[in-house]
Amino acid sequence: MVDIVLECKDVFKQYELRSGPLEVLKGVTFKLNKGEMLAIIGISGSGKTTLLNLLYGIDTLNTGEIKIDGQEISQMTKEEFRIFRQGHLGIIFQEFYLIPSMTAIENVMAPLIIAGKSEELALTVAYQLLERVEMIEMANKLPHQLSNGQKQRVTIARAIANKPKILICDEPTRALDTGLGDEIMDLIEELITREGISVIMSTHDPEMAARADRVLIIRGGQLVEEKIKDKKSFDFQSAKEVYQKSVDADEQTSGKKSTKKQT
Ligand SMILES: Nc1ncnc2c1ncn2[C@@H]1O[C@H](COP(=O)(O)OP(=O)(O)OP(=O)(O)O)[C@@H](O)[C@H]1O
Ligand SMILES: [Mg+2]
Repeated sequence: MVDIVLECKDVFKQYELRSGPLEVLKGVTFKLNKGEMLAIIGISGSGKTTLLNLLYGIDTLNTGEIKIDGQEISQMTKEEFRIFRQGHLGIIFQEFYLIPSMTAIENVMAPLIIAGKSEELALTVAYQLLERVEMIEMANKLPHQLSNGQKQRVTIARAIANKPKILICDEPTRALDTGLGDEIMDLIEELITREGISVIMSTHDPEMAARADRVLIIRGGQLVEEKIKDKKSFDFQSAKEVYQKSVDADEQTSGKKSTKKQT
């Protein structure tokens, strides 16, 4: 039997703007299986970050259900969810969000300290994590002294500090060039293999999506599954074509030209 670690059912999310409501997610339904990497692709503004923010509890849905590890998160109090999240979810933001006044190792220690670990233990764990992402030599550097690839390595170490079951990645390679992006994806794949972590990742980049087990396209506020029988048969060219079709369709609906770079 497949273990489902995350399940969204008919999720609706709208923002109230001065000009009226903006419906971003209009009935999003999907499942994430244990040990799986799921990619969500879609053009800018299609709602990728909105969806991931709902999963991490940064924002709340209007209607629908989000179950993580079998538990409906909207049923939890803020405090219950805070504790639940520490043990279940890690997140990598596209803008890194490292704390600028803290060194690399302190940034990795932060979630451990927040989760109640002693400073000594947090230091030991953070050191091991930095070793794992090959950042030991940079442990005492501040974020502004790090390159983008190095910052992303620190954010990965921070995201997995409390051994989450699910890693949420919002365009983890957007700020990186292709070579560095591949390295970061290698690291994420290693986590799946070694720790059995499940990953949900948003991306603009079909090449990154091609590395996932399954790809969902977000369009018109809904997710459409791309049928990929097995990972090996999923070729980069078809991913690009599918992506291009969704961009074209969105352009036709919105009547404007996308400025996104096509590879
Ligand atoms: N807090 C908010 N208040 C109002 N509108 C918002 C808010 N957050 C996002 N939006 C709007 O919701 C839509 C979806 O935004 P979102 O950031 O989820 O897109 P995205 O797919 O992540 O885009 P990108 O690829 O550029 O990161 C956009 O039209 C955006 O302007
Ligand atoms: Mg986004």
